[in-house]
Amino acid sequence: MLHSSRTMVVGARMYARLYTLVTVLILLAPVGFAVDVTYFKTVDLTLIPSAVKNGAVCLDGSPPAYHIDRGVGDGAHKWLVHIEGGGWCDTTENCLNRTKNIFGLGSSKIMQAKNFTGLLADNQQLNPDFYNWNRVFVRYCDGASFTGNSFDPVNQLHYKGAKVFSAIVKDLLGKGMSNATNALITGCSAGGLSAILNCDKFRSFLPTHTNVKCASDAGYFLHVKDVFGEYNYANFYDRIVKLHGSTKNLPRACTATMRPRSLCFYPQYVVPHIETPLFLINSAYDAYQIGFILAPSINNLPQSWERCKNDTTTCSQDQVEILKGFRSEFLGALPKLGNGTFRGMFISSCLAHCQSQLQLNWDSDPGFRLKDKTMAEALGNWTNGRSSVQIIDDNDVPKICLTTPL
Ligand SMILES: *[C@@H]1O[C@H](CO)[C@@H](O)[C@H](O)[C@H]1NC(C)=O
Ligand SMILES: *[C@@H]1O[C@H](CO)[C@@H](O)[C@H](O)[C@H]1NC(C)=O
Ligand SMILES: *[C@@H]1O[C@H](CO)[C@@H](O)[C@H](O)[C@H]1NC(C)=O
Ligand SMILES: *[C@@H]1O[C@H](CO)[C@@H](O)[C@H](O)[C@H]1NC(C)=O
Ligand SMILES: *[C@@H]1O[C@H](CO)[C@@H](O)[C@H](O)[C@H]1NC(C)=O
Ligand SMILES: *[C@@H]1O[C@H](CO)[C@@H](O)[C@H](O)[C@H]1NC(C)=O
Repeated sequence: MLHSSRTMVVGARMYARLYTLVTVLILLAPVGFAVDVTYFKTVDLTLIPSAVKNGAVCLDGSPPAYHIDRGVGDGAHKWLVHIEGGGWCDTTENCLNRTKNIFGLGSSKIMQAKNFTGLLADNQQLNPDFYNWNRVFVRYCDGASFTGNSFDPVNQLHYKGAKVFSAIVKDLLGKGMSNATNALITGCSAGGLSAILNCDKFRSFLPTHTNVKCASDAGYFLHVKDVFGEYNYANFYDRIVKLHGSTKNLPRACTATMRPRSLCFYPQYVVPHIETPLFLINSAYDAYQIGFILAPSINNLPQSWERCKNDTTTCSQDQVEILKGFRSEFLGALPKLGNGTFRGMFISSCLAHCQSQLQLNWDSDPGFRLKDKTMAEALGNWTNGRSSVQIIDDNDVPKICLTTPL
């Protein structure tokens, strides 16, 4: 356990490299900053070896894992379960490679401790609504947002995401979550998608008296044509769903009618069927989605798009119109406005991806506020029933939101 209590001075600089997952690089610099945004707490890994006999294993057959920091005071019976992100694997080769991923995205043998920050921080000033809850960081180790149930004996690849999800939730129930008054499942990116796809499943594991909600950060991937006029990303999702045997574990109300069924990997087709309250944190100009869904670097993507993706100030007027079109489609694919208790939203125009774990985006940098509200306040209010929240940035051009001085 490590507490950084130094009042550090922080600067930051945005790299507009939209094809990379990480868009924010924090540099230490001699400038005063009121809140210690560099604070973190290192939390050890907890393995679930008993899950292995039930076939609930990571891609390489190793046990599933999570990190837990126990709740205290009036948070002792409240649970925040946050699922890690990290893309997906759609071919045998990519999944084999994933078992060796240095962050442990396919194997708990490689996983290390985790620094808790942002919505996972245990500091009241930095995380006023969740700091004293039981906070769990679920390690993503299956490569299909915890939906798979298949096995490749030749390559010894275990596509068991759906079982891993159940095993982790059951383990947490035994550690006190079965007595939860409140339970919120969240996640970022592929983990945010997992929180959506597994939202009602999570609900079903908890007692009826528990107030259960779901929230997705940067997990609302859009089914949309790319700049080639094709659905290349939908083909990628189709390969993931087939390889992992995920169809049976996608929400049934969607797969009953949707064709192809793999489209039920998309939030916009699943969310209308979800019965549990859901909150969406996302940018309508999600940096990952622009780089990988709208303008993927395949089939000789024009250099002008590579430049525009990397630095939106270089985009031509035509490209700006295409970006705006993406935003319009994104907003159009969101749940209908009106019931902000059932479907909360915090939708920015920031060139960002996965924000809730970054202290600056979560509540510290004013540039990430919408209508002068922080993400922390929006999700905190909504989760605790203080207000219904549907906030969408009116700004219709992509923007760099980091304003923390260099
Ligand atoms: C394998 O994974 C590494 C990162 O862990 C990546 O850089 C590399 O491109 C991957 N190779 C293939 C064939 O997917
Ligand atoms: C936690 O953050 C500190 C400071 O940035 C870093 O030195 C350390 O390696 C991090 N630990 C983990 C487990 O990521
Ligand atoms: C739930 O609460 C009851 C009553 O306080 C207690 O006996 C039980 O052990 C708790 N269950 C867990 C899993 O902590
Ligand atoms: C990306 O943009 C940065 C400035 O934002 C620039 O320094 C860099 O050269 C660009 N890279 C490419 C590959 O265009
Ligand atoms: C919001 O939706 C929920 C679930 O459908 C419903 O129970 C509730 O009455 C709705 N509230 C409003 C104000 O429409
Ligand atoms: C959160 O709730 C407080 C107190 O009810 C209220 O003043 C504030 O405006 C709310 N913020 C949001 C984003 O709804």
